Amino acid sequence: MSHFHYRQDELFCENIPIQNIADKVGTPFYIYSYAALVDNFRRVEKAFSPFNPLICYSLKANPNLTLCRILSSLRAGADVVSGGELYTALLAGFLPEKIVYAGVGKTQKEIEFALKNNILLFNVESEQELVEIAKAAEKLKRKAPISIRINPDIDPKTHHYITTGKKGNKFGVSFETAERLYHKIAQTRTFEAKGIHMHIGSQITSTETYLKALNKLKDFIRKLQDCKMKPGYLDMGGGFGIAYEEGEKELCLEELARQISLIFPEDMHLILEPGRYIVGNAAALITKTLYRKEEGANKFLIVDAAMNDLVRPALYGACHRIIPIQRLSSKACEKVSIAGPICESADFFLKNVDFPGVVKGELLAILDTGAYGFSMSSNYNSRTRCAEVLVKGDKWWLIREREDYQDLLRGQRVPRESLWGMNISSTLSCNVQFWKMEGTGNDFIVIDNRGELIKERAKIASCLCQRKKGIGADGLILIEEAKDADFTMRIFNPDGSEAEMCGNGARCAVRFAYLKGIAGRECIFQTLSGKILAKLSDDVKVKVKMTSPQDLREVDKLNIDGKIYKGYYVNTGVPHFVLFLPSSESIPIREVGAKIRFHEFFHPQGTNVDFVQIEKDRLLVRTYERGVEDETLSCGTGAVASALISAFVHGLSSPVTVLTKGGEIVVWFKLSEDKFSEVFLEAEANIVYRGNLNGAKYV
Ligand code: LLP
Repeated sequence: MSHFHYRQDELFCENIPIQNIADKVGTPFYIYSYAALVDNFRRVEKAFSPFNPLICYSLKANPNLTLCRILSSLRAGADVVSGGELYTALLAGFLPEKIVYAGVGKTQKEIEFALKNNILLFNVESEQELVEIAKAAEKLKRKAPISIRINPDIDPKTHHYITTGKKGNKFGVSFETAERLYHKIAQTRTFEAKGIHMHIGSQITSTETYLKALNKLKDFIRKLQDCKMKPGYLDMGGGFGIAYEEGEKELCLEELARQISLIFPEDMHLILEPGRYIVGNAAALITKTLYRKEEGANKFLIVDAAMNDLVRPALYGACHRIIPIQRLSSKACEKVSIAGPICESADFFLKNVDFPGVVKGELLAILDTGAYGFSMSSNYNSRTRCAEVLVKGDKWWLIREREDYQDLLRGQRVPRESLWGMNISSTLSCNVQFWKMEGTGNDFIVIDNRGELIKERAKIASCLCQRKKGIGADGLILIEEAKDADFTMRIFNPDGSEAEMCGNGARCAVRFAYLKGIAGRECIFQTLSGKILAKLSDDVKVKVKMTSPQDLREVDKLNIDGKIYKGYYVNTGVPHFVLFLPSSESIPIREVGAKIRFHEFFHPQGTNVDFVQIEKDRLLVRTYERGVEDETLSCGTGAVASALISAFVHGLSSPVTVLTKGGEIVVWFKLSEDKFSEVFLEAEANIVYRGNLNGAKYV
């Protein structure tokens, strides 16, 4: 039984009446069945089980994060064609070693991103692409895993727009070129020949086409093997056709698997890249009838979904079955065309079909729209993109919000200069996105300023960091271009002065840069105090390399109001005085800290003061910060100083966990012959919220 079915004339998705969801989320929206998604994946798995294949879900069919997470949890791999898809795939939990990357126009930046993330292989589509990959691999000192995409010149008998393996198509290379490329790969240390690839088209319903293509590939593989080249993976792409119309046949996977088994080269590992087959029939697009319009003999149902939501009928002349949410068998059929509100004659879903009489306000389900539905949607006619909902049994969730009008303007900037001489209100001037982030108790405003939209940095920092009249933050971080690094981090204090570096801020900058696609999980960024290495150690934790400590020494007689304090001095980027106490809770930090900080022993630059309590194998640390002249929630260089001194004096070994009022910090280091090296600080960098700066005042 389909997971979209009628119960007493009412359309359900699994166990939920679709009308109930529509009443809550409005229309139009895509509705996905969890069970259908999982069943489809299992069907592919089962049919090809003798091959134990790697099934790389093709994200272009539908990159929704929830759907991708479900598929990655079923241990699927991913087929991606852009940096954005790769980013989504990684975020959704697809393992890098199960990700393949195709596409005729990979950019240097995308290639580096993929290499840094150790994907399984690149499906290479041209000789020039190979040159670009070599460039990136040499730069990153990595070996690039390569598979050549063959264009076997086969007609898959599908729509000409989705035919991809025929001579004249832009995809893949001929056997002759491929042979040359494999020889090149074999001669270059930068490459590793991992596999061979084809993808001949989409919505293919005959097994014969695949066999023809595979037979051609097989002969070629034999030739490669004769030359002692042995790509291990055979990736036969996706393209498995589904049934869109009543009575139409889908591709028989069992039959395809059986036939392939007769010719499949021994000791090669099969990769499949299905997209449509996994998600196609797992969704319907729910839309409301806005108007019934009759002009002579022509009857139209104008619905609130349009070609911007589902472009397949307009682009390929595709037919998707449409059924009413409330089925009334008593209703007589009439000939209608079902069209959307967009100002294009191509904006229709069905033309002149027999359809049961539908009245204004009734809901319709456009079926089998899970693949290339939302993923090809747009904002054409300034229409907001619709919502997405997932149903599982008798539960449902909104998995993508409907866009609002603000979303239509996101990222748009109207430079004030462009309006000079015109009588236009200057409050329109811009719409710059910022993120509010937090790292162990320090909060920052982070902005991507690579286009240098913000020029008056100091002024804007002091404006935005104000707690009541601005956003409120300990600093403004601007991510800017860098010559020999992934990016530059510039950090400004609330008084507008520029700081050299800040550990908590740096972690926020690294996570921001990663999530924005500016840098990979591992990066090098420029600061006023030099280049800094960092990596994301999990989704929210960032590990930053710190400077190695200087001037470590014992200070055994610090006289404060007649009381003698003993502690250790060390410079971990800034000066710190560390003292151990049985309990760090009871000490009046502001008072004692200030006295130590201004003690003549530390003149003229003063010092920060860390009060440390050792609790089993971790430290409880409170820090008095110079400059702030008070206790702060945490201090990165203070955590490092406390951990290193504890290792030095009390023999704690790396990594040391430091508990501060602002959260947990882990300090990693190497200690040999009383010398510290490889000092890293690891802690969370959290996103509190994102927003837009509107108004001329700021930019
Ligand atoms: N692998 C590669 C390299 C691809 O280019 C594609 C799809 C697939 C796998 C997945 O193909 P599937 O299993 O989904 O057929 N927008 C069109 C379909 C375009 C397909 C592009 N490539 C449509 O709506 O019919």
